[in-house]
Amino acid sequence: MQIYKVGGAVRDRLLGKPVTDIDWVVVGATTEEMLAKGFRPVGADFPVFLHPKSGEEYALARTERKNGRGYGGFIFHASPDVTLEEDLIRRDLTINAMAEDDQQNLTDPYHGQRDLEARLLRHVSPAFAEDPLRVLRVARFAARYAELGFTVAPETLELMRQLSESGELEALTPERSWKEIARALMEDQPQVFIEVLRECGALKVLMPEVDALFGVPQPEAHHPEIDTGVHTLSVLEQAALYKQPLTVRWACLLHDLGKGLTPEEEWPRHIAHEHKGLKLIKAVNERFKAPKDCQELALLVGKYHTHGHRALELKPSTLLELLQSFDVYRRPQRFEEFIAACEMDARGRKGLEQRSYPQADYLRGAATAARSVAVQPLLEKGFKGLELGEAIKGERLKALKAYKAAAPA
Ligand code: CTP
Repeated sequence: MQIYKVGGAVRDRLLGKPVTDIDWVVVGATTEEMLAKGFRPVGADFPVFLHPKSGEEYALARTERKNGRGYGGFIFHASPDVTLEEDLIRRDLTINAMAEDDQQNLTDPYHGQRDLEARLLRHVSPAFAEDPLRVLRVARFAARYAELGFTVAPETLELMRQLSESGELEALTPERSWKEIARALMEDQPQVFIEVLRECGALKVLMPEVDALFGVPQPEAHHPEIDTGVHTLSVLEQAALYKQPLTVRWACLLHDLGKGLTPEEEWPRHIAHEHKGLKLIKAVNERFKAPKDCQELALLVGKYHTHGHRALELKPSTLLELLQSFDVYRRPQRFEEFIAACEMDARGRKGLEQRSYPQADYLRGAATAARSVAVQPLLEKGFKGLELGEAIKGERLKALKAYKAAAPA
């Protein structure tokens, strides 16, 4: 049997990028031979094994053919007579379809190296279309390698467009899609992921609520970039620049969905967009079964981001409601993430990226003031149950009044 390193490990080594996990392909072997060598079988779908010591993935060379919609409908063929070239041709991109032996000799039948040099994300063959997840993967790679100057080859973009129009994307499971989305959002240029999806028509299928923001104007005074879609991309870009976690990036992407529902005659104003957007945010959250912390933060940021921007003008009672809504006493981290998302929203505006955002510290100070209210003295006074809750709220309100009064105007 011959063993080759394949996929991302070869690509990233040639790009001079750190290689995190290595995939191997085994040519000329049977399942029985692999088991006899101590490899542990994994994966119900394909003959894939884990190395007994390194734990890395070794897959038998295979060909694949699709015989239905979605990811389930695959017929694969793995046997010792499947060649390396046959295994590589079923892969997504030429830069992912190179193999390397233990002497670092490259097998590159589909010119991945040439495309690496040309900075092109190009599909290997029409078999690309057999897995619609690849539309998201290409957009993710575009985001990851944008800083190196990579773009999607026009013919690949065309194929992605056809796939998006064919209805195949709808067959993707929420879990597979979310994994790609989450990884893409954590790249250094997540806005490129959304841009590429939009360009090939996939955004309209996957997240029509985000797609609908393009072409929707906002008031120039607050939004020199005017377009709500452009703004959303800038907010995401800022979130990456500031190394925000996934929760914040997800909330940034969805914060303004309500603006897509504003009747044209109300443009460029978006009255109550925070509230109107909630059902859309919920729908996107559920469509991809986003993790609970992402879902929660997106909804809270959607509902309260304008409160964040107006923090310095809020009445103490409104500030208190805001802090209560976030349960800032038990969930301080979530409130920090809310503040971060608001700040990214403020910076994601053309020419305003460097502006200061005093609201952030003001909100932190308010949270500290409310949190400093001690419960023990109230218990000692005999408050219980609902009354105790009201008494705590009363004390917190007092603390916030004092905080606001003391804050520099
Ligand atoms: N692959 C594919 N189509 C997919 C998923 C994977 O063709 N839908 C192939 C590609 O050749 C890819 C390899 O399987 O390079 C390994 O896949 P994976 O580990 O998911 O990705 P990597 O390319 O290693 O990229 P990353 O650095 O993002 O993990």
